[in-house]
Amino acid sequence: MFGDGVRCLVVVGSQWGDEGKGKIVDVLASDADWIARYQGGANAGHTVRVGEDEFILHQVPSGVLYPGKRCVVGNGMVLDPVTFLKEIDELKARGHEVEDRILVSTRTQLVLAYHKLLDQAQEKSRGKGAIGTTGRGIGCAYEDKVARVGIRVGDLADPVRLRDLVEAGAARAQARLDGLGSDLTVDTDALYSELCKLAPRVLPMACDVGLALKKALDRGERVLLEGAQGAMLDVDHGTYPFVTSSNTTAGQAATGLGLGPTSLDAVLGVVKAYTTRVGAGPLPTELPEEEAARLRELGAEYGATTGRPRRTGWFDAVVVRYAGRLNGVTALAVSKLDVLDPLPEISLCVGYDCRGERLEEFPADLSLLAEVEPVYETMPGWNTPTSEARRLEDLPAGARAYLDRIAELAELPVRYVSVGTRRREILEIQ
Ligand code: IMP
Ligand code: MG
Repeated sequence: MFGDGVRCLVVVGSQWGDEGKGKIVDVLASDADWIARYQGGANAGHTVRVGEDEFILHQVPSGVLYPGKRCVVGNGMVLDPVTFLKEIDELKARGHEVEDRILVSTRTQLVLAYHKLLDQAQEKSRGKGAIGTTGRGIGCAYEDKVARVGIRVGDLADPVRLRDLVEAGAARAQARLDGLGSDLTVDTDALYSELCKLAPRVLPMACDVGLALKKALDRGERVLLEGAQGAMLDVDHGTYPFVTSSNTTAGQAATGLGLGPTSLDAVLGVVKAYTTRVGAGPLPTELPEEEAARLRELGAEYGATTGRPRRTGWFDAVVVRYAGRLNGVTALAVSKLDVLDPLPEISLCVGYDCRGERLEEFPADLSLLAEVEPVYETMPGWNTPTSEARRLEDLPAGARAYLDRIAELAELPVRYVSVGTRRREILEIQ
């Protein structure tokens, strides 16, 4: 993907997250000089396999496992500094020295202990309407950001101001917890001293990351922008309110790093060869539990962050076409094709029927979405292992026909096909 005039490449999830972005980013990162995250936080779980080692990255960008690459935490993320440093320490313990290669925006909002308490209490109070959040305090930290009462990385540099901000934030959070009838309590002193303790480790990483990336691009270096979650979890364009609290679509890659939108050269949309979702909310192609369980076991579909079983269903071309448009996707990467190898038949959703009409576009209205009947096309399976394929020609005809149909329905070319969890298990289509 890099080359051909592409220096700044965005990789976005084009379903409900967990599309296999971690693996794709890890593979593409070998050609990049910088890898940057621009939204979300520790709600993300990006699984990367290097040899026999598996890493699940939450806040550190997925390119970090290559020595020497620079990794960036953008201003659009919400950073939990405690678990972030733990992640860095764990990487170090496993032989990956990363601390001096990570840059964090001075403007990044912090996720604090009270955000996690509030996330729990809010979910509990939602009862049946719970979103099924990851419990990482993400929504509550973004709420504080937009309410202009958040605490940013740069605030760690001023202990007096930090104390005021922590006291005000903790008092607000406590009042909200009490209002929700929760018996959770915020420990302001413990939080403040924890932040003072970690500040000397975080502050040396802090800088104007937009400036650093602009300079790198001007020098001709290559930058990979790594999205988290997926288009259908975007706070504006997803299945609201069953979404995450950030813009997960490609436009945010610019804003979330302090780059101009004209810096973005290409957008790779990652899609699974089928569909999964973790948490509550609409999933039009969801399979009945028995069939869902089969796909879940074949694909090892359990949340990388929370371990929750993922809901599963057939590939939904309405979703992927919509995500393609929202993100300005220039090419697709299809992941986990090998998971479908043993299936006798494979279905794809080509449209939705709703109230006697065919819907061409993904609806904004959840009550309409609840009534849609996916229209399926069924193709024969290929019953052949695909994990050894390295070129398109190595794939069985059935698998190629399936990929062609995806490309046709999504109106996008397929550039990469991942056929296993290992780095080498991927094919690039020129
Ligand atoms: P939150 O981001 O923790 O607030 O969770 C909001 C919704 O987004 C829930 O349905 C989560 O399951 C979902 N979600 C958040 N992060 C991810 C992710 O990285 N992959 C898949 N789903 C996610
Ligand atoms: Mg994930």
